[in-house]
Amino acid sequence: MSRNDEFRHEPVMVEETLEQLAPGRGGWFLDGTVGGGGHAAALLDRFPDARVLGLDRDPEAVAAARRRLARYGDRARIERANFRNAREVVRATADIEDAHGLAGALLDLGVSSQQIDTTARGFSFRLDTPLDMRMGGTTSGRRPAADFLNHASEEELGRVFREYGEERRWKRLARAVTRRREDAPYETSGDLVETLEEVLGPRLTNQDKARIFQALRIEVNDELGALEEGLEQLRELLAEGGRMVVIAYHSLEDRIVKNAFRDWSKSCVCPPELPVCRCRGEPLGRNLTSGPLSPGEEEVERNPRARSARLRAWEKRRGGEA
Ligand SMILES: C[S@@+](CC[C@H](N)C(=O)[O-])C[C@H]1O[C@@H](n2cnc3c(N)ncnc32)[C@H](O)[C@@H]1O
Repeated sequence: MSRNDEFRHEPVMVEETLEQLAPGRGGWFLDGTVGGGGHAAALLDRFPDARVLGLDRDPEAVAAARRRLARYGDRARIERANFRNAREVVRATADIEDAHGLAGALLDLGVSSQQIDTTARGFSFRLDTPLDMRMGGTTSGRRPAADFLNHASEEELGRVFREYGEERRWKRLARAVTRRREDAPYETSGDLVETLEEVLGPRLTNQDKARIFQALRIEVNDELGALEEGLEQLRELLAEGGRMVVIAYHSLEDRIVKNAFRDWSKSCVCPPELPVCRCRGEPLGRNLTSGPLSPGEEEVERNPRARSARLRAWEKRRGGEA
């Protein structure tokens, strides 16, 4: 196994990402979800004048990205941070301030194959490990998934199964969780799989299990909240003409990205309660993708995890907001 194979994750839609993010430009790029550094390495290889500030909330990913990107010297800088705090991290990086902002920003959302397949943190229904699911580990300030199952109200549980998991039988499932925890608290991913099998019956597929596990992960890590805040910050941090690329794997994430890019591309961006237009009718930028881009068949065949990827890109207007 080579050093780069230590972190098992195949980056998704690399060509499409590079094409949208950096048509031949140099400068600082922020990779807010650097993971194993796959996209970052591709960017640094392709564009010799590019530099990457890579963030990840997972300490194991940070260590892997540092190892993988060490050969680029000071062209790559990796920090442990949530991208919802990108502003703070970027402001502490003097060279980016000097460059008047980021040439580009990338978010490749969700979890890596490494996190799903090999960490003992309960991300996968296939491994019976403690049901934790905190991407940022024990210091993230979030509660582990088992705590959520053991203490959330039936309504809260139902909301997560219904909204994030798009589970039709969300009521039954929420009720079953509250009943089961009276006998024995949830501890492992196997405990949750048992409940799913009991409640959802023999026709339960692996995809169903994956959907419920993903829903719980989204809740545990406040992934949608981080995305909403992160998008705003990244837009502010972009230089004029800077580009943002987001790859989403869940319909709610993709909807947040779609709406943000659409709103920022409207000619008037004043809040509706303002009686007169203050923004002078100038859009903040333009959508580069009219609909989401999806991976090609060949990529999906090679890497089935790419299947649900949806890529959108946006460009900040020149002469726009400072
Ligand atoms: C799909 S992987 C990214 C893989 C990466 N593009 C690569 O090529 O290796 C998503 C990564 O984003 C991280 N992540 C998810 N949400 C985050 C957030 N709000 N802030 C920082 N990192 C986050 C996860 O820990 C995970 O390592």
